Amino acid sequence: MRLTLNVDHIATLRNARGEEQPDPVTASLIAEQAGVDGIVVHLREDRRHISERDVRLLRELITTKLDLEMAATEEIIKIACDVGPELATIVPEKRQELTTEGGINVIDNVSLLKDTIKELHNSNIEVSLFIEPDLNHIDVAAEIETDLIEIHTGVFANALSEEEQFDELERIRIASKHAKKLGLGVNAGHGLNYQNIKIFRELTDIDEVSIGHSIIARAVVVGIKEAVQEMIRLLKV
Ligand code: PXP
Repeated sequence: MRLTLNVDHIATLRNARGEEQPDPVTASLIAEQAGVDGIVVHLREDRRHISERDVRLLRELITTKLDLEMAATEEIIKIACDVGPELATIVPEKRQELTTEGGINVIDNVSLLKDTIKELHNSNIEVSLFIEPDLNHIDVAAEIETDLIEIHTGVFANALSEEEQFDELERIRIASKHAKKLGLGVNAGHGLNYQNIKIFRELTDIDEVSIGHSIIARAVVVGIKEAVQEMIRLLKV
């Protein structure tokens, strides 16, 4: 399983004082040296953490891959096409949420998503749809020619009992196998941490995990390099 690091929380800390430190771009370069396979940033409509400056500098400086999380809105699609990340991950976005709360409803938004995918493909950007582990949504995602899906793992991560966690892991296992059969790349993310990754890594159809909060929280204590390498060691077992 590959690892991409979401650095939004570094920008949140920077923005808390309206100053320049800590810098998510510097942190991303250190994370690359520590072995991550890509950097993820969510350019929100309200710019509450990542700024356009961050995205453009990352585009210039990182050497792995840039995964731009984004809502399917005209303004952000335009920026994405201009910046040219390797991957655009389409997420639902609500102003008041603390973080992305769940996958996008592919079935209800089929025409918007189809047009968005086409537009991003025209700029040679691969597209991933952040969705629930639901076979109907995955079928429609494949029909509208997404390249990848990212399975929302929040329900698994927030499960209150082992039984609930196991049931959700099974849903994700079935969904990831189904997506692979349809020829899609399969990423996963949300709420993954140093504990729950140990059972999650058994899902062999998941190509890549996108992790933010747990690694950045650990990095505050031990540094980015150590926090990233601890996670990479767990993914390689
Ligand atoms: N994947 C997506 C689509 C997300 O929106 C987020 C949260 O920004 C993550 C992964 C990472 O989640 P976490 O910060 O809980 O690791």
